[in-house]
Order: sequence, then structure tokens, then C-alpha cells
Amino acid sequence: MNKLNKLIKLYRGGKKLSCITAYDASMSKYLDSFGIDIILVGDSLGQVIQGQKTTHNVTTREVIYHASCVKSGNKSATLMVDLPKDSYKSKVQAYNNASYFISNNLADLVKVETDMENIDIVEHLIKKGIPICAHIGLLPQSIKNKSGYRKYGKTKKEAQYYYNLAMKLNAINVNIILIECLDNSLAKSICKDTNMPVIGIGSGQGIDGQVAVIYDLLGISFNKIDAFSTDDRTPLDKQIFKFKKKLK
Ligand code: KIV
Repeated sequence: MNKLNKLIKLYRGGKKLSCITAYDASMSKYLDSFGIDIILVGDSLGQVIQGQKTTHNVTTREVIYHASCVKSGNKSATLMVDLPKDSYKSKVQAYNNASYFISNNLADLVKVETDMENIDIVEHLIKKGIPICAHIGLLPQSIKNKSGYRKYGKTKKEAQYYYNLAMKLNAINVNIILIECLDNSLAKSICKDTNMPVIGIGSGQGIDGQVAVIYDLLGISFNKIDAFSTDDRTPLDKQIFKFKKKLK
């Protein structure tokens, strides 16, 4: 059974899933030894590794480099990588980049920041056999200024938009939905009405798992990522919580 199928089995068995970012072999080995379910090579590396203000300048080449570092430290965790900004503007470009990660065993699935505008690209990748995590809600790659760092889905209109988006993602069979900074009760309804793991950051406890940036857990992020100031996840789900305790 491949790692992604094992992960889905854990989810179906009722396990709350933990997902933490890593960008290098040592941290990846440490997180894996601790039983973290998903290691994410996030484009947050733009902020926490490169010291930039946003994720916008991270390149596919850089994600490939960090994914290969993380891969060498990891045995059991499911490996997820971000497709960085502007690396999936067309179906062909998205497939070429995503399939590079999958066919070179640099990832078990790729994460794509998804909205109604690019869902056709996500659907294309799924049809071509690429396992996908659709990232919805606050999309760091699209944020233009500080006001973009907020909770989404608070108004009726926005809530309807995100609910419909999640139902479409459910219908096209994405493997995981990752929700960032979405209204907690909306996140919970999306989780209840879809049949894949719904994990989140800053979206409350009523979902299938929690995501965290490792440097945020360590309290040493170079550039505090604003999303976390809207983050009201207390306490974190068990496994991340235990991990945090161990770090103290
Ligand atoms: O890049 C990243 O680390 C992420 C998380 C904040 C979800 O996308």
C-alpha cells in the first residue's frame, strides 16, 4: 500500500492527521521519527528559509531542491510539496511540474492553491493521475497586501463561495483539502460534507487534522507569517500538541 493510501486508511479509522513543514533532511528525519503524518515542503520556505516577505518568488527549482533534502530524511511520513506561484498557469505547465515531483519520488502528492478560476487545472491533474491537495481559503500566492491576511468565509456570500468550491473539489476527487484561515464553522461543515481528509491551519478544531509551519512551532520564524496571527487553534490536535510539548 502506498503512503497516501495508508494515510487515507488512518483518516478513515478516525485518526486526526498532523502535517508539519520541513525544508531539510535533519528536520524531516526528526518529524518522521516523531510519527508526524504529513511532511509539507511548503513555499513558506520563501519566508522562513529565504527571509522574503512573501512566497511569491519561490521557484519550482527551489522546491525541488528542498524536496530532495526532505526526502532523504524521511521514511514513513507522506510527503507533500507546494507547486509555487506561476508554476501551474496552464494545464501543460502544471502537469509537467507536478509529474516531475511524483515521477522522481520527491512527493506523494502536490499542493495547489485553488479557487474557482483554476479548478479546471486541478481537475486536469487529477485526471492525469497526479495526487492533489487543494489549498483553499487564504491563498498566500495571491495576496497583494496586508489586508489579504484575514479569516475568509465570514460573510454569507464568501461562505457560499468556499462551500461550493469544496463541493466541486469533492466531486472531482481531490485527495486532501487544506483550508487556511477559513471561518471555523464553515471549515467544520466542509469537513462533514466531503469525503476526503480536510486539514487546516487557522480554521479551528472541527476538522480532520492540523497543519503547522515548523519555525512557527519553534517560535523562530524569520518573518512572522501573518496568517498565524489570525490563528485560533488552541490546543493544536494531539500529535502536534505533543510535539510542541516535547520541544519545550
Ligand atoms: O507553504 C506552506 O507552508 C503552507 C502552509 C502555511 C499551509 O502552505
